[in-house]
Amino acid sequence: MEIKSIKTVKNLKHKRVLIRLDLDIPEDGYTNIVNHIRFINSLPVIRFLMRKKAHIYIIAHRGRPKGVKDTGLTLENVARALCRVLKGKSFQTVKLDMFPAFYFDVSGVSIYVLENIRFFSGEERCSRVFAKSLSNLGDLYVNDAFGVSHRNHASVALLPYFLPAYAGVHLEKEFKVLSKVFEKPKRPLTIVFGGIKVKTKLSLIHHFLPRVDYILCGSGIAIQIYNALGFDVGKSYVDKESEKIAYKLIKKPYSSILSEKSDFNILLDKKDLKISDWRYLNTLKNRILLPVDIKIGSKGKKGITKDVCWTNKSLSPNSHAILDIGPITINLYKAIIKRSGTIIWNGPMGMFEEAEYAEGSVAIAKEVAESRAKAIIGGGDTIDLIEGRHIKIKRNVFVSSGGGAMLEFLLNPNLPGIKPLIKKI
Ligand code: 3PG
Repeated sequence: MEIKSIKTVKNLKHKRVLIRLDLDIPEDGYTNIVNHIRFINSLPVIRFLMRKKAHIYIIAHRGRPKGVKDTGLTLENVARALCRVLKGKSFQTVKLDMFPAFYFDVSGVSIYVLENIRFFSGEERCSRVFAKSLSNLGDLYVNDAFGVSHRNHASVALLPYFLPAYAGVHLEKEFKVLSKVFEKPKRPLTIVFGGIKVKTKLSLIHHFLPRVDYILCGSGIAIQIYNALGFDVGKSYVDKESEKIAYKLIKKPYSSILSEKSDFNILLDKKDLKISDWRYLNTLKNRILLPVDIKIGSKGKKGITKDVCWTNKSLSPNSHAILDIGPITINLYKAIIKRSGTIIWNGPMGMFEEAEYAEGSVAIAKEVAESRAKAIIGGGDTIDLIEGRHIKIKRNVFVSSGGGAMLEFLLNPNLPGIKPLIKKI
C-alpha cells in the first residue's frame, strides 16, 4: 500500500494549498510551542511549499471546543510562533470568506492560519456543506495531521474528496514506519496503555490482545477498568462515556486473570531476573495487566502507596484519587519492557505534571527510551512527558505524533483521513 505524496506534485507555483496540520499544542507553561514535536513536525511541509512558491492555508484545531468559540483555545499564539520561526512579516488578523484567520508574508509567500477549525460545529459533524466551504479556499489539499487522521471530521475525512489530495511530509513518514510495526515484529511485543483519553484506547484493547504478548495498563485506562470491575476508585476521574466500553471489556474471559501483589513478590527489588521469574512472566502473556499497587493522593499533596486487594475489591482511595502506579508495578512493568523485542507506548502512568506523581511515568519513559527494542511512542501527553523531562531517546525509538490515531492505524491503516490518500493500483 502506498500513499500519494505532495513531494511528487509538479508545478505548485501560485497554487492555493490547504494543509491540515495537527497543532494541538498545550499552552500550560509546561511545553514551549516552538519546541513541541507537533510544531516541529509541521515545518517541513510548510517549508517545502514555500520553496515551491505555493500560497499556504493552514487548517488546524486546538482542544475540544465542541463547535463554539473559546478564546482560550485560539490558534493565535501558534500562528505568531510560526510567523517568528519562518521569519514572516505583516502579521495580521483577516477573514477568508466565513473563516477568521491569521496572515503573514514570507518573502512573497502568503501564509494563512485559519482560526481553530473546531470553533465551527460543521467540523466535528463532518458536514459536507462545511467541507465544501473550506474547499473553496484552495486548489489542492494536503493532510499532514497524522494525529487527527482517525477522526471523521470535515477537514480530515471529507475535504480530501473535494480537492486533489496528498499526504504531507510528516504523514508520509508516519505511514511508512507504522505500516511495518506488525510485519514480523520481534517478540515479546508489549503495549503500554495509560493517559486520560481513555475512550479510543479502551475500545481497541481487545483488538490488540490477540496480536501482542503483554498489555500493561496505568492511569485512566486502569482506573476505568477497576471501576468497571466494581472497585471503589474514590475521586479518580472516570470517563462516563467510556463506562459501557469498560463493562464490555471485563466480560471477556482474558480480563478475569488479573493478579494481586503477592503474585508479584518474586519480582520485588530484583535487578536480574532468574529463569523462574521469566517463566512466571510468561504466564502473564495475553492478559490485560493492571497495577498491583497504586499511589493515591490529591494535587499538591503528598501521595500514599496502597496495594490493590482483590479479595474485597479495595483500592482504599478514601477521598483521594489514583494518581500513579506503585513501586511494585513499576518493577513489574520495567521487567516486561526490558525483555520485550517490540514496544508500543501510549499514555503516561499517572499525573506526571506533579513531581509527587511522576515516578511511574518517568520510570516507564526511561525504560522505553533506553530499550534496545523497536519502540513506538505516541500520544500528546506521552510526548509532553518525554520532552518536559528531557528524556533522551535512542534511534530505535520512533515518536509518533498520533495518540489514538497511531493505535487505530496499527490495527487498520485505512483511517478516515488516510484512506483518500492511498494510491489506487
Ligand atoms: C491529539 O491531541 O491527540 C490530536 O490532536 C487529536 O485530538 P482529539 O483527540 O481531540 O481529536
